[in-house]
Amino acid sequence: MDKLAISGGIPVRVKPWPTSMLGASLIGEEELNELRDVVAEKSPFRFYGLGNPAKTATLEKELKDYFGCKFALAVSSGSAALVCAVAALGLGPGDEVILSAFTWYSDYNALVNFGVLPVFADIDESLDLDPADFARKITPRTKAVIVVHFQGGAARMDEICRIARAHDIKIIEDCAQALGGGYKGARLGTFGDVSILSFQVHKVLTAGEGGALLTNHEEYFVRAVRYHDLGLVRSYFTEQLADQSLADAQKSFAGLQFRMSELQGAFLLAQFRKLDQILGRCRLLHQKVRDHFSQNQHFRIRYTDGDCGIAIFLLFATAGEADQFRKCLEAEGIQVGAASACSNLLQQYPIKSQKLVHDALPPFGSGFAANISGFSPESCPNTNLILGRYLAISIGPQFTDEDVMDIITAIDKVDANLYQGGPG
Ligand SMILES: Cc1ncc(COP(=O)(O)O)c(C=O)c1O
Repeated sequence: MDKLAISGGIPVRVKPWPTSMLGASLIGEEELNELRDVVAEKSPFRFYGLGNPAKTATLEKELKDYFGCKFALAVSSGSAALVCAVAALGLGPGDEVILSAFTWYSDYNALVNFGVLPVFADIDESLDLDPADFARKITPRTKAVIVVHFQGGAARMDEICRIARAHDIKIIEDCAQALGGGYKGARLGTFGDVSILSFQVHKVLTAGEGGALLTNHEEYFVRAVRYHDLGLVRSYFTEQLADQSLADAQKSFAGLQFRMSELQGAFLLAQFRKLDQILGRCRLLHQKVRDHFSQNQHFRIRYTDGDCGIAIFLLFATAGEADQFRKCLEAEGIQVGAASACSNLLQQYPIKSQKLVHDALPPFGSGFAANISGFSPESCPNTNLILGRYLAISIGPQFTDEDVMDIITAIDKVDANLYQGGPG
């Protein structure tokens, strides 16, 4: 019997969907007003200008207040924040860092460009790092782990933190896709020794590009500050330090200028004030879907308390079922697919080819005994198996109750058609 045909007829949804973009969908007068201030001050550079630039500094202060952390550093992108995090922890050739195979290129790129060997681990059904495989992949050279909270859903931080602590492994918490998310009552971004945010256009808040680094460790902060600038520590940052000697000019090293512009900072201030509105709406709609399907026998919805609610992930017993369900949902006019382009990096170039800008560079270049056996999909066998069993439907703050009812109705219809042989 052709299940797709059964699911045919009049699709549940015919009219177009609102955008599922998050902060980007609410850009308006507030951002314009903040930008106007920067223009009026004639100060698009955050540290000085013709007037008194203060937007990016204010953003950092608001981030510190929100996360309850000692230091926040605004930078030019989430990728820049990751690079600064690697610099902050002092990682380099000979070191290994564990990361999930299912993630974004920047996590890998930040490591290999420092000569650090990435060691891939599986995800589990949280779609985030599997603590058990994290533990298995630890070697005497493991210095850190990168934990990504994919699409607003927290990794199993209790276990990950316990394992990391037991082995003296530092945590880089990648909250690029999970700003505002939580785990067991604590904010995501407060678990890492260093944590990062992204403000790229698909993220919860955006300035087109932008990022931030958070930490409670003064030494890590100073190293990140140096790397995000030219190696120096400006007085604005020195004033924040308890140990002024950390800012000594003789400790300078070659930084790469990943500063946030005042225009980005201003834009993000307006966006930051919309965070509760964005996530409040998404979480409400997400809950409606969860409540409706809480008893469903054929799939379960990925959820941990604190989830940002920006996408509904249905987990099926097999990839075949997920695939069939997805095709039927698409036939009903539902947009299926996550807003994130994360993939199994072990199947992607330049990871497969282990290419760097110069062949001689560590961790792959001659003279470095890289453990390249870990660079095949077989080293993380569960990742594709688990990813194949999920389908995603994105939610944005512009979605109406009717939009979410259409999603629920379509899932109900497909569920009835596929599993109960009903007409739908
Ligand atoms: C998980 C994750 N980490 C890091 C980044 C890098 O952020 P950016 O695009 O701001 O450089 C992204 C962006 O897509 C991401 O999804």
